[in-house]
Amino acid sequence: MKKITIAIDGHSSCGKSTMAKQLAKELGYIYVDTGAMYRTVALYAMRNNLISMDNKVDMDQLCNQMPQINISFKLNATTGCPDTYLNEERVEDEIRSIKVSKHVSPIAAIPFVREAMVNKQREMGKGKGIVMDGRDIGTTVFPNAELKVFVTASAEVRAKRRYDELQKKGMPADYDEILKNVKERDHMDSNREVSPLKPAEDAILLDNSNMSIPEQQEWLLEKAKALL
Ligand code: C5P
Repeated sequence: MKKITIAIDGHSSCGKSTMAKQLAKELGYIYVDTGAMYRTVALYAMRNNLISMDNKVDMDQLCNQMPQINISFKLNATTGCPDTYLNEERVEDEIRSIKVSKHVSPIAAIPFVREAMVNKQREMGKGKGIVMDGRDIGTTVFPNAELKVFVTASAEVRAKRRYDELQKKGMPADYDEILKNVKERDHMDSNREVSPLKPAEDAILLDNSNMSIPEQQEWLLEKAKALL
């Protein structure tokens, strides 16, 4: 079967990863969560005191240490989905914490961080047959992707989804704090200079506020199948 590149971009916690993961499984494609990569850089910066509580980043140190940040994905046999590793340590759960969510957007706005991540993402997608989700996949990473989708939902719906997800994992969750974080990240991600969050001109827009997960998955599978 013909292999294509599928870019799923959108706002924070809009369910893109859930949709993208399922689509990759159905098509037998590679799935890459690029948010996990930026979260992993943020976790490294936090652990090494390269980012202060008020989000001031030690740029020189982070730039020097970028070659030491080895991010990889390994398939989790139980979930059937890739888990994120930082220098061979599984960090899949830790990178989803609200602490990391609070520090990730300033890290993701740094040009040398983006350059390193985008290079890695292009390398992973060079053979096509990939579903990649993020903020700039259709605009910057794969501007020639055959299918581009831009997903959104109301901030309240998105905060509730993230709250439920953290609760399910037994991680600390406070709805108001999550809602504030979702709005702050949207603002920072949309207003940064390098690769701001915005739909590609040829992206299909999807507001999934009132759609169930199976409905979203069916919608996406139909769009992909039409191109295969
Ligand atoms: O997708 P997720 O919410 O896990 O992404 C975490 C953060 O990583 C985003 O808020 C954004 O700042 C950054 N990000 C990005 N570009 C991507 C993916 C994520 O800037 N392609």
